[in-house]
Formats: sequence, structure tokens, C-alpha cells
Amino acid sequence: MDKTDDSSTATIRHLREGDAEALQRHCYPGAPLEEVQYYDRWCLHPARESWITRLVAEVDGEVVGNAQLTAWGETGEIGSLVVAAGFRRQGLARQLIAALQADAEARGLAELEIGVRQDQPAVVDFYQRLGFAQQAHKNGLSHPACPEPVLRLRMRLRGT
Ligand SMILES: CC(C)(COP(=O)(O)OP(=O)(O)OC[C@H]1O[C@@H](n2cnc3c(N)ncnc32)[C@H](O)[C@@H]1OP(=O)(O)O)[C@@H](O)C(=O)NCCC(=O)NCCS
Repeated sequence: MDKTDDSSTATIRHLREGDAEALQRHCYPGAPLEEVQYYDRWCLHPARESWITRLVAEVDGEVVGNAQLTAWGETGEIGSLVVAAGFRRQGLARQLIAALQADAEARGLAELEIGVRQDQPAVVDFYQRLGFAQQAHKNGLSHPACPEPVLRLRMRLRGT
């Protein structure tokens, strides 16, 4: 899976034990390190290999972004997409999503789904340019932890 893109110095690779400190520092500075470590360990547990892929983006040896694919039946949900503030607009999110899409296709999933807050129109546009389309019936749902309504966007995968 490890893949270096020539257009930047980023490497997209699987999460490893030991990434939590850099992830907390760059991507989740408001979260306690123990929480980031706990969640990383949870994702890396062998029992979850069949339904979770967690990738990180590494630049100059530092982990500065991450994203996750969770397989729910035939649907792969992309979540936890965060790129560190100082590393945005360099194509890292695009590379993370492309790698998760390839992973979902390799798993034989039929579609990808991604949620985005309605107050992030630039991000909605970005996902739509990648091929995601809105699902009207799921729009506007919110979550107690994220009161801003969330749009659900979906993409059919190759061969389905
Ligand atoms: C959203 C986020 C993941 C994008 O990461 P990124 O690495 O900067 O994204 P990319 O460089 O791959 O940008 C892809 C495209 O998205 C659009 N885009 C991303 N952020 C944007 C912004 N703040 N304003 C306008 N357009 C934006 C642009 O079209 C961009 O392409 P361009 O730079 O060629 O114009 C990042 O801003 C982030 O971590 N934000 C905080 C967490 C978050 O909102 N996560 C998404 C939850 S759905």
C-alpha cells in the first residue's frame, strides 16, 4: 500500500503503532495523547483488519494527515479525514481518498460514502469533483457531537 506521489513529498501508508504522537501533535492538537493512542490501538487490532483501513499521509518523515475506511456491508465509509493545518492545499486529502478508494475496490465494496458538514461548501465541491454525489434521503442528519447538519455523499465503485 505504501505509495509515494511524485507531485509532492507525501507518502500514503497504513497507520502504524507509534504514529499517535505525531498525529496528536499535527492533526488533533486539542485531544489528549492518550485518546489518540487508544483509538489508534483500537483501529490496529487484528480483529478489525477485515473492516477497517486507516491510512496516514507522511511528509518528510512526519505524519501530518489521516483518513479511515470502514466497511459496512457493501459500503465503505470514509471518515476521520484530517490534514494538519500547515499542510493543507497540497493534495494530501485527495491522495488519502484515492488510496482508500483503491482499498475499497480491492475489498470488492460496491460504493463509498462520506459525510461532510453543510457549512463546508468548498469541501462538498471537492468531493463532488472526485465523483461523490449527494444522497437526498440522508441529508440534513446531525449528530449530538456535531450539531451542524451533515450531508452524506456517495460514489459507486468500479465494476459494480
Ligand atoms: C478538508 C481537508 C481534509 C482538506 O485537506 P487538503 O489536504 O487541504 O485537501 P487537498 O489539498 O487535497 O485539496 C483538495 C481540494 O479541496 C478544495 N479545498 C480544500 N480545502 C479548501 C478550503 N479551505 N477552501 C477552498 N477549497 C478547499 C480545493 O478545491 C482543493 O483543491 P485545490 O487546492 O487544487 O484547489 C482539510 O482542510 C482538513 O483537514 N480540514 C479539517 C477537518 C475537516 O474538515 N475534514 C473533512 C471532514 S468531511
